[in-house]
Amino acid sequence: MSGSKHRVAVIGAGSIAKWSHIPGFQRLDNCDVVAVCDVNEARARQLAEDTGVAQVFTDYEAMLEVVKPDIVVVATPNVFHQAMTEAALLSGAHVLTEKPLALNAADAEGMFELAERLNRKLSVGTHFRFTTPMQAAKAHVNAGFFGKIYAARTVWNRRNGIPGYGSWFTNKDLAGGGALLDIGVHTLDRALYLMNDPMPVSVSGATFAELAPRGMGLGGWGSDIFKPSANARYDVDDFATAFVRFANGAVLTFQVAWASNFPETVVTEIYGTNGGASIGMRDKIELYTMMNGQEVAIQNTLHEDKVGSYFRLIEHFVRAVDGDVTADIPTAEQAMVSVRIVDAIGRPPRAGARWNFKVDGHPCKIR
Ligand SMILES: NC(=O)c1ccc[n+]([C@@H]2O[C@H](COP(=O)([O-])OP(=O)(O)OC[C@H]3O[C@@H](n4cnc5c(N)ncnc54)[C@H](O)[C@@H]3O)[C@@H](O)[C@H]2O)c1
Repeated sequence: MSGSKHRVAVIGAGSIAKWSHIPGFQRLDNCDVVAVCDVNEARARQLAEDTGVAQVFTDYEAMLEVVKPDIVVVATPNVFHQAMTEAALLSGAHVLTEKPLALNAADAEGMFELAERLNRKLSVGTHFRFTTPMQAAKAHVNAGFFGKIYAARTVWNRRNGIPGYGSWFTNKDLAGGGALLDIGVHTLDRALYLMNDPMPVSVSGATFAELAPRGMGLGGWGSDIFKPSANARYDVDDFATAFVRFANGAVLTFQVAWASNFPETVVTEIYGTNGGASIGMRDKIELYTMMNGQEVAIQNTLHEDKVGSYFRLIEHFVRAVDGDVTADIPTAEQAMVSVRIVDAIGRPPRAGARWNFKVDGHPCKIR
């Protein structure tokens, strides 16, 4: 920290850095974004110019050495998250890494353990927990509205939503996976956050790539990039589904799709002994309970948080860096658990196998 401000450096000058990280840190009085790094120098220079960031680098290791930032943002394609995060932690920085934390459970565990050992904050960009309906739902959880939560269902189903068909997003070597890793960790985080982070003990799941290779599911941000004649690479999943059991006896049904013959659906459902809830993406939370012997459905009136979920995440992250124990960041341990689950779902199935986690104290290891 120089003076009273955290010096923030960003690795990866792409969309999420431009729309979320740089403005999210710049709006905070105690942060200065001092450097941006991208292998694409022109992109880094343009972003730095547009946002008033002073220093530009094309080599993140050089940036860490020269700038010695207090906080590093890792916003590159997924395959680079682990090496960049570990280098940033070892340089002494606190790190906000984009989701997914890592491509597999072993890498995520190593990152979590390194951050613990170095006593640095490590968080990830699963910002949907900070949407207005999710924060309302969490308030109901904290107040005990649901009683014992024994089951949940969490779904993010896109009809036509493959991001950047033919870009790094659909290239397994760079992305590590498709819908499962990309929106899977967001979708899991919504449920695990409301379930108070139970520890998974077994996962049974499956992944598919049925529509994307047939040229379907393009639309929105996918359609402008994909050219059917351009031999665009697609070797990741477009659909994943799973059933997760937790050490406390609770269970979770999970499904994500980048592409499907089904309407766009984002919902997290909570099933408790005293109440239930259905929580949408940004606009809706409905609660269900018994009142005076009657079944009631309660529409929770929402007042939209104009700050937005990503900026809230950054606020909480900086508070955590400052030692505020009430800051509610997605922790490295929570991110690691999500990666464990997606890793277990995404591994090639053995005949009749059900992937098992054996819980062995804290933190648990996959056996
Ligand atoms: N939290 C969210 O809601 C959210 C939303 C979108 C993307 N993301 C995540 O953010 C990350 C980046 O996604 P994006 O949409 O910004 O991608 P993008 O393609 O727009 O940007 C990635 C940038 O990283 C740069 N890069 C690649 N290798 C590099 C290296 N070795 N050193 C420095 N820079 C390098 C690329 O040149 C590119 O400019 C991904 O992990 C993605 O999953 C998260």
